[in-house]
Amino acid sequence: MKKIFLLLAALALCMAATAQPSNAASAKETAVDPVREIGKRMNDPIVLKSSVSPLLNVTFNHNTHRSVPCRTCHHEEGSNGYYVSCSECHQNTEPRSQDVDSTFQAFHAKDSDRSCYGCHTKMAEARPADFPHFTNCRPCHMSNEARAAARAEARK
Ligand code: HEC
Ligand code: HEC
Ligand code: HEC
Ligand code: HEC
Repeated sequence: MKKIFLLLAALALCMAATAQPSNAASAKETAVDPVREIGKRMNDPIVLKSSVSPLLNVTFNHNTHRSVPCRTCHHEEGSNGYYVSCSECHQNTEPRSQDVDSTFQAFHAKDSDRSCYGCHTKMAEARPADFPHFTNCRPCHMSNEARAAARAEARK
């Protein structure tokens, strides 16, 4: 499984390398500033949808993660640069999969600084007083209303 995954990732890299000239040309034609486009998209919360139940959907805000370097999360170059969907490579959507190619591990790998769960858990362990709201499955798996209330509480 791992081998196939690495092979796919390598393939994606090769494709990205060969596709570059035509990408540059099409960017000129449409005259869109890619940096501005990325900036605009980052202001909007991203809803990461669950394959199991909408109750497990998670809202991710780039704005609350400005202290984290982009490449911590966007750690590998995909088909169109670094800022591609995680699921371009982490394609295995099996819930609770232990495989590195799964979206579940991309978001929950325990000993990784780049997974949501891994980073939050480390922060809560290192500075429990600062991150009382990082417990168990929170603040990711909660309703938007509950999350807003928790954030207001944490700011007091
Ligand atoms: C720091 C953020 C974060 C924490 C903490 C977290 N998760 Fe998640 N979880 C996510 C993200 C992002 C997704 C992707 C969206 C989705 O699939 O629902 C997800 C999805 C899931 C899914 C659905 C997988 C699928 O295929 O749809 C399950 C099950 C899950 N998490 C269980 C848990 C459990 C149990 C805990 C607590 C022990 C937990 N998570 C803690 C971020 C987190
Ligand atoms: C804490 C982790 C994290 C950090 C830090 C982060 N991102 Fe993201 N970013 C994500 C996740 C998760 C997504 C949603 C990916 C998906 O849909 O699978 C995303 C999506 C994006 C997208 C949209 C990709 C698409 O699907 O079209 C862009 C553009 C982007 N990020 C740029 C950036 C830039 C630029 C930075 C640094 C200034 C940054 N990100 C920092 C986690 C992060
Ligand atoms: C272009 C392919 C690619 C993209 C896009 C990608 N990854 Fe990965 N990811 C990999 C590969 C290959 C590995 C295994 C090798 C390694 O750890 O670097 C991996 C490993 C991981 C791991 C370690 C998992 C474990 O079990 O230890 C985490 C966490 C992770 N990625 C999170 C993410 C997140 C979050 C995103 C999106 C913001 C993302 N990845 C986007 C290719 C990618
Ligand atoms: C490398 C560390 C790191 C990673 C990886 C990371 N986070 Fe965070 N997260 C933070 C920091 C720092 C904060 C801001 C501190 C606070 O809210 O007290 C934060 C805050 C949050 C909050 C509360 C604020 C809000 O936006 O509602 C949520 C929810 C959250 N993260 C979800 C996620 C999800 C989902 C992922 C994975 C896609 C993720 N985080 C990945 C460090 C990280």
